[in-house]
Amino acid sequence: AAVGKGNYRHFMEKELHEHPAVIGDTLRQYLDPGTHAVRLPRLPFDPAVVPRLTLSACGSAFLAAHVGRYWIEQLARIPCDADVASELRYRDPPLAPGGGAILVSQSGETADTMAALRLLRDGGQRVLSIVNVPESTMARLSDAALLTVAGPEIGVASTKAFTAQLSVLACLALGFARARGTIDAAEEERLTEALLSIPGHAAAVLEQDGRIKALAAEIMTARDVLFLGRGSMFPIAMEGALKLKEISYIHAEGYAAGEMKHGPIALIDPAVPVIALCPSGPLFEKTASNLQEAAARGGRIMAFTDAAGAGPLGRFAEQVITLPSIDPFAAPILHSIPVQLLAYHVAALKGTDVDQPRNLAKSVTVE
Ligand code: G6P
Repeated sequence: AAVGKGNYRHFMEKELHEHPAVIGDTLRQYLDPGTHAVRLPRLPFDPAVVPRLTLSACGSAFLAAHVGRYWIEQLARIPCDADVASELRYRDPPLAPGGGAILVSQSGETADTMAALRLLRDGGQRVLSIVNVPESTMARLSDAALLTVAGPEIGVASTKAFTAQLSVLACLALGFARARGTIDAAEEERLTEALLSIPGHAAAVLEQDGRIKALAAEIMTARDVLFLGRGSMFPIAMEGALKLKEISYIHAEGYAAGEMKHGPIALIDPAVPVIALCPSGPLFEKTASNLQEAAARGGRIMAFTDAAGAGPLGRFAEQVITLPSIDPFAAPILHSIPVQLLAYHVAALKGTDVDQPRNLAKSVTVE
């Protein structure tokens, strides 16, 4: 059956509002809401002994894989590589004997991701894919496929499929950590609970729509926008920048906040809004001090944080948007939503073709 827009102006807007349901549905595939334990299906590699994992994908799916790398390394202590598929396929990297691969794709049909899959498979890696379309070519070519339960995504710019990919990767990281004995049961339960709290918190973020739309009105005339984050928030900064470029045609860059002093700080002036992803957690102080450096050079800091971060950031940020407080592990999933909403509102205010941006395709099946 054809998917409609319902009461929404664009498919992207409708799909943004599906975040709570999609994240919940996807998590329930891989977490037991009763026991709070991870339950993964049979995997093509044994996470307890796999020596190395290679993650690869394109576009937003790659940024999800990039977050996955941070999670898997931190929680399960498995060495990981994450590379865009168009590079991986020609880089000819040395692959670990007995290694595993994780490919991420909404469509399961992206040509470069498929080529990376073949390279990894032919190089002896056991291949797991995370796809939204169960009957896709990638699902068929993989040793196993895990499904995101996002339903059809029509908007070219990925929204709910992205948070669903993150949800699967978070469950994988927890499952791998348990298999390797790098987290104990109490920690697993705490992190599982954090994940299971995301749908409710996501609904609360969506209720801040008016506030985010007002922020969009502030930045819609900018020529450049800088998104900054550290750790697992760095890929989300890149996702925010990618979304803004894709649908509003404003030049944006997502940068690791600590790297700003090695270049992008030269761009800082009052005409370049700086969108900061700065939830409280172990990297809060470091990120906040990078932001303060930008503010000291006339940068207009617009910060996404939580209740604990709002006070310190409010001393120099022009705007602070307070999101629900959540464990730092789950924060990248929650923070994806406002940056997608922001890009959506900028594009809608500018009147661009939100669902069908120029020069882009939903699924790139040619190289
Ligand atoms: C295209 C889409 C992006 C998507 C990327 C990867 O560029 O416009 O939104 O992230 O392809 O697509 P996939 O189907 O492999 O996730």
